[in-house]
Amino acid sequence: MFAFLTWNSSPIRVLLVEDSVCDAMLVREAFRESQVETEIVHVERLSKTLEQLAHANFDVVILDLGLPDSRGIDTLINVRRVAPEVPIVVLTGINDESLSMGSLEHGAQDYLVKNLMEGDLLVHSICHAIERHQLHKQLNQQLIQARQQQIENQKLESLAMLAGGIAHDFNELLTVIIRKAEMACQKATISPFVKETLEQIKSTGNQAAELCKQLLDYSGKGGRVLLLYDLSTVIEEMAPAFKQSLPHNITVEYQLIKPLPHVLADITQVRHLVMKLVQNAAEAIGRVQGIITISTSVVHADRKYLEKTLLGANLPESDYVCLEVTDTGCGMDSSIQTHAFEPFFSTKNSSRGLGLAAVHGIVRTCKGTMEIISEKGKGSTFSILFPCSVTGTAAHSVTKEAYEIKL
Ligand SMILES: Nc1ncnc2c1ncn2[C@@H]1O[C@H](COP(=O)(O)OP(=O)(O)OP(=O)(O)O)[C@@H](O)[C@H]1O
Ligand SMILES: [Mg+2]
Repeated sequence: MFAFLTWNSSPIRVLLVEDSVCDAMLVREAFRESQVETEIVHVERLSKTLEQLAHANFDVVILDLGLPDSRGIDTLINVRRVAPEVPIVVLTGINDESLSMGSLEHGAQDYLVKNLMEGDLLVHSICHAIERHQLHKQLNQQLIQARQQQIENQKLESLAMLAGGIAHDFNELLTVIIRKAEMACQKATISPFVKETLEQIKSTGNQAAELCKQLLDYSGKGGRVLLLYDLSTVIEEMAPAFKQSLPHNITVEYQLIKPLPHVLADITQVRHLVMKLVQNAAEAIGRVQGIITISTSVVHADRKYLEKTLLGANLPESDYVCLEVTDTGCGMDSSIQTHAFEPFFSTKNSSRGLGLAAVHGIVRTCKGTMEIISEKGKGSTFSILFPCSVTGTAAHSVTKEAYEIKL
């Protein structure tokens, strides 16, 4: 029994193109003896081959190049034109090197000569040709996915640079406006009307500054003080704020591992990230009863897992501290998931679409990665992976300066 059968339990659908009845019987016999399960459709002419390929699916075409209505390499070219996705194994009586090379160049998986290939060897070669073809297809798909991911990352990076540049300049102007309004407010001589107007300027300026902050977080240009933290402790400290601010229809459950390896991060940004994820989770639940689960754990991320995360392509295989925010809300279809982290992408009426963009920037800054698992109508899980810091004590128990890294 061939290895091929261990991963493909259904019968192999073979289109056997052979004008010699005797040779066709030999192929059938070879499959029967090898115990490889097949469904063989036998045709003798090119015209019938093209008809079959137009109407049915096959795992492989075993092709004799010399047919009553077609000869030589043209037979292969015509078959491949109608079935570019099906592996073709040429099985011919002509032992000719240039025809063999030509067949491979025109996309045949293999070129087998009838008299030299019998019984098990023939079946083996055909099964391997199918396997090779499938592996090739998988590799191609992975390559296409990797390229798409790279293009997506480059797009997000240039957006981040642009957004960060604008936000930075805008923030400086806002700082001046807010400061001047504050100074004017302190004057004893101003009328109540002017005071109220100045307060409004301050408050609107602060809202605009908050937007700038989110854009700066997204671009990775936000001011940062990196210290070591135990993420479970950070979440515990935020729990009262969640209890106070979330509506009663939402229950927050915690599954926090303690102690955790420390992560090197800016505490304000990490709190901001958790808030944004919880806020989205609550908005996804809406007014019905729902649960938000916040959990922490340590996961070992291997290459395969990192590749399928959003920012993991260039991260090392290692242990990561994982923060998961799961909700029982409305979930997302795949198109929303594709765009969710883009700045200004929102499906909500009066939202700006900056929450997850900021999360993206913060995770990038921490050299972490993330993944969404979600299905429309079935809730969502956001997993954020932070690199574990190798050594050190959490910032809570040491003086701030000891671990301060100014960037
Ligand atoms: N937990 C979730 N469940 C379902 N959809 C979500 C969830 N989190 C995010 N989304 C989707 O991703 C989109 C982008 O999220 P993001 O937080 O960036 O923006 P927003 O929530 O729309 O606006 P903002 O956060 O600026 O107020 C949302 O509009 C929503 O469609
Ligand atoms: Mg949001």
